[in-house]
Amino acid sequence: MAGNNKRVIEMASPSLDEHDIQVVADTLRSGILAQGPRVAEFEGAFAAYTGVKHGIAVSNGTEALHVALLAAGIGAGDEVVTTPFSFIATANAILFCGAKPVFVDIDETDFNMDAPLLAKAITRRTKAVIIVHLYGQPCDMDEIIRICRENNLTLIEDACQAHGAEYRGRKVGSFGIGCFSFYATKNITTGEGGMITTDSADVARKARLIRSHGQSERYVHQTLGFNYRMTDFAAALGICQLKKLDDLNRKRASNAAFLSGQIAGIRGLTVPAIGRDRKHVFHQFTVRVSAAFGMSRDELAANLKKKDIMTGIHYPIPIHRQPFYRDLGYDAHLPVSERAAAEVLSLPVHPGLDDQDLRHIVQSLKDAADNARLDRQADTPKTAAAERAIESTQPVQASASRFWPDGADVSRDVVLRGQVNIGKGTVVENNVTLGHRDDGVLTIGENSRIRSGSIIYSDVSIGKGLKTGHNVLIREDTQIGDNVLVGTNTVVDGHCRVGNSVAMQTNVYLTAYSTVEDGVFLGPCSVTTNDKYMEYGAKLTGATIKKEARIGANSTILPGITIGEKAVIGSGCVVTKDVPDRAVVVGNPAREIHRNAGAKAVSGSPEKGQ
Ligand SMILES: Cc1ncc(COP(=O)(O)O)c(C=O)c1O
Repeated sequence: MAGNNKRVIEMASPSLDEHDIQVVADTLRSGILAQGPRVAEFEGAFAAYTGVKHGIAVSNGTEALHVALLAAGIGAGDEVVTTPFSFIATANAILFCGAKPVFVDIDETDFNMDAPLLAKAITRRTKAVIIVHLYGQPCDMDEIIRICRENNLTLIEDACQAHGAEYRGRKVGSFGIGCFSFYATKNITTGEGGMITTDSADVARKARLIRSHGQSERYVHQTLGFNYRMTDFAAALGICQLKKLDDLNRKRASNAAFLSGQIAGIRGLTVPAIGRDRKHVFHQFTVRVSAAFGMSRDELAANLKKKDIMTGIHYPIPIHRQPFYRDLGYDAHLPVSERAAAEVLSLPVHPGLDDQDLRHIVQSLKDAADNARLDRQADTPKTAAAERAIESTQPVQASASRFWPDGADVSRDVVLRGQVNIGKGTVVENNVTLGHRDDGVLTIGENSRIRSGSIIYSDVSIGKGLKTGHNVLIREDTQIGDNVLVGTNTVVDGHCRVGNSVAMQTNVYLTAYSTVEDGVFLGPCSVTTNDKYMEYGAKLTGATIKKEARIGANSTILPGITIGEKAVIGSGCVVTKDVPDRAVVVGNPAREIHRNAGAKAVSGSPEKGQ
């Protein structure tokens, strides 16, 4: 065997013993195969374990989510806020009901929904929230429950990966309507299987109807339902598995602690962080592989595979970026999820691992890190040479991981630093620098074009369809949406937030911490200034330019100013105070001459395409 290990180390291995097999065989022999007394027993045991009054067994986790939504009354025209960084079933269940999934980004450290962003995503159509306790780690429940209560929203917990996980000593699945999966790889399994948990008698009653053709008694149907029932032999296995769950979770946690302790010091690997007051049950042990590791996440996975260690990527494409969701019109840019999708790697952590397996995983990671470091050292003279050697066919990689598909066209003299992710169809011309920090990440979406002479720093995230002119500078911690135009010699300083379909023309200067919302037009040489009196060292305050505002050529906007939606700033203006929505201002200092009812431009204001 490769790597001197005794066998292939799989990502998952169901913990089945002879007793489990015997109990399933006995149930098969009993002649009751479909839903029967074992299902009722499993429901009661699982509800008691979770600390709720009712358990409703179904035949998989996806159906648990579907039934939970229907039982909560979710239907056409409703919005359900959820995370894009999950298995696709989480969002699909919302579509099954004719409702609309609304995605909010995740937290950088625990990969779960970013609770403050949840509050911002709520509209008058929002009826429910599906959180996911991803990888087995509970979400930030205090904050999520507060937001749901304040907005009268149903909380559904996708706990498909989190059997037995706890927040402040309380089991997940007991905060809202809980949905669990017993798929073969889960912390406990019934082969396929699912469970809904709730304290609500009404939700339980509806869920029981829906999972079985809406039937209240034989051939009497009260509502539209499905056949989502669990078999009695699956439930028999579930009962046995549930008895072992705490032990199995303890072994997972101990494996995770060993792995974390051994590999936490490896540069470029980030081990899972366990949030305060949380019991993490490590359905997955997922590390982040950043550029500082010296090889890409995918290269590391291939490296481990050669040593007979299987790994997983949960998940390589966030849901909002899946082809099917794109076809539905989803085109949001959710940078934290997108970055996580490029960096996460799940290592085996299941209870079937023994000490030798764990040591083999650790040693293989250390070997990979050492090899990457040696390769980098060996590459250093090559890098210098590459700058001189015109015959080089690769972009110059100062210290970079490259992540781009075959469809991207990156000129051979582009200088790369840190992790650089480039989308399909993107063209990067000569003399461009991408990234400025070895441990930074730069992401540029598909079908973009970066003209020669441009520099884009690390920790910048740009959506699809970016078009730059020549010599553009885009600095650190800036986020740019889709289909943005950045004209020649334009500078977008650090920490800016630029929405979708923004057009910045030649020589625009956007000062640090500025916000430019969707559809804004910035004419040539328009600038936002750093501080009113140009003092050196003053605190930087950006401007806020709201949706579809139009900023004329040569205009100057002082720090901290807000330009209202669809406002028009005449050419040459100096804007010294906030401009209301739709106002038209001219002069120095700018004064309002008109308030547009619609978005019509007046003479002297910049025209699109100027
Ligand atoms: C987070 C999450 N949600 C939903 C599901 C769907 O569960 P099932 O495969 O049992 O339908 C899964 C299973 O992989 C999951 O991991």
